[in-house]
Amino acid sequence: MMSIKDRTDSVWETIGLPLFTEIKGDARTEVCVIGGGLSGLSIAYELAKRGKSVTLLESFRLGSGQSGRTTAHLSCQLEEEFSELIKMHDLHTIRKFLEGHRSAIDTIASIVDMEDILCDFKRVDGYLFEGETTSENFLTREHDAGKKCGIFLDPVFKTPLLKEKRPGLRFASQAQFHPMKYMRGLTECLIDLGVIIHENTRVTEIENPTPALSCIKTEHNFDIQADFVVVATDTPINTRFPIHTKQHAYRTYAIALELEREVENVLLWDTEEPYHYVRVQEHKLIVGGEDHRTGQMPDEDPFTKLENWTRRNFDFVGAVTEKWSGQVYEPSDVIGYIGKSPGVEKNITIATGYSGIGMTSAIIASQIIPNLIENRFHPLAEIYDPKRPPLRNMTEFVKENVNAVYQYTDWLTKSDVKNEDEIPEDSGCLIRHRLTKNCVYHEKGNNFERKSAVCTHLGGLVHWNDIEKTWDCPAHGSRFNTHGTPIEGPAMSELPEP
Ligand SMILES: Cc1cc2nc3c(=O)[nH]c(=O)nc-3n(C[C@H](O)[C@H](O)[C@H](O)COP(=O)(O)OP(=O)(O)OC[C@H]3O[C@@H](n4cnc5c(N)ncnc54)[C@H](O)[C@@H]3O)c2cc1C
Ligand code: FES
Repeated sequence: MMSIKDRTDSVWETIGLPLFTEIKGDARTEVCVIGGGLSGLSIAYELAKRGKSVTLLESFRLGSGQSGRTTAHLSCQLEEEFSELIKMHDLHTIRKFLEGHRSAIDTIASIVDMEDILCDFKRVDGYLFEGETTSENFLTREHDAGKKCGIFLDPVFKTPLLKEKRPGLRFASQAQFHPMKYMRGLTECLIDLGVIIHENTRVTEIENPTPALSCIKTEHNFDIQADFVVVATDTPINTRFPIHTKQHAYRTYAIALELEREVENVLLWDTEEPYHYVRVQEHKLIVGGEDHRTGQMPDEDPFTKLENWTRRNFDFVGAVTEKWSGQVYEPSDVIGYIGKSPGVEKNITIATGYSGIGMTSAIIASQIIPNLIENRFHPLAEIYDPKRPPLRNMTEFVKENVNAVYQYTDWLTKSDVKNEDEIPEDSGCLIRHRLTKNCVYHEKGNNFERKSAVCTHLGGLVHWNDIEKTWDCPAHGSRFNTHGTPIEGPAMSELPEP
């Protein structure tokens, strides 16, 4: 039987979370949270603590999304340079934004403490270090821009752990944890707080019979009525357009390698584009990077590139023990979208566009969203408002959307192969069929799965991802398994029969 979700397993997935049954009938709840990642669990936790009745629905298993595939640096080091951030937002907004991430780390620390969660939470320093090909004045520029943004970075001549002497900037008192252990602890709290949780329950539609009441429909045709809905599915499944043109999906890769000696516990990021990110977990070094737009696989294997980079830069690593990939959503102006969903339904909220700082963003979402539901002010609500227009970074915004639109020209290209027999086992290809294209997965022998290659979100053409054995849409990041079932992204329905 083929995997229903991704093929690779992250270093965290040996830790199991409690199991929950799928929904077996209609239900009524005050708040329905959709998505069982760090966002969904944290939002449900905060709502339940405030006395709300909460039902959480997850299409697969809790933690089976990106929160189980992360590298879990808890920091305010961004994917975008501080010097670029200043070009997009005023300093007041930036300082509030960064302070939000700093205080989210404190929130995690206090939940860990209060709920007694054993999750290897540790305060550690982080270092941004000069990459192999970055210009010399990059760090000086970042140091000065950081100061304007309210982040004080200490220059160091030698960054810890690196084989060679390389300068860097120290971010004091960041943190790290084991994400699955943290989510396991949070789930146990949810059980104690009376939150109802259903796994293997995929939401296929959200209707609003009245502006104040939502009807959430599941794959097996059960209805959940809710006064409020929180869409915590990493990228929203309830909006077709508004958010998906303001953020873009990227694949990112991670490997874990054995440590040959004990090393200092620090977080590292380099200044390359795309950047590499590194941390230590018990006896392993975890290294991530090699990001690219979803559905646009590079020619060279990203894992080989990551391993080569690691061996060039660290002299204490042994064998690779795990390799996995995941997806992040990059907002056009660095700040995510957390708040009321753009649209007429005032009772639906979303939390998305976290980029590489999704752990702390999930915590910020767990503070903003409950306040919005209770009609209370939150100081960060305005800057995260999903309805805000794209700000000053218009060039990047246009470039990313041209890339998305360009994907539709794939209709005009030839088939990947002339006929199905040429597709290797456990692999997939696109085959032109009259005016349309089909995606064909060759399981083994004479077993082929054929689906239309037209993405059910907005008609992009899916592409084969040979690492995770999935069909990925380059337009807005929807992904489907080999049976055509959506596993990620805005698409809610299956790839149709050819
Ligand atoms: C390799 C990698 C490294 C990263 N490193 C870091 C890092 O170091 N620090 C950091 O802060 N962030 C990092 N991130 C980003 C961070 O992991 C994510 O932003 C964060 O986990 C998103 O959490 P979430 O709960 O919003 O989404 P998810 O964890 O993806 O949860 C969403 C859930 O919704 C479910 N779902 C989707 N559709 C439906 C539906 N229709 N019905 C019901 N359920 C549905 C999914 O199955 C999933 O379980 C990294 C990400 C990756 C991939
Ligand atoms: S994800 Fe939008 S068209 Fe496929």
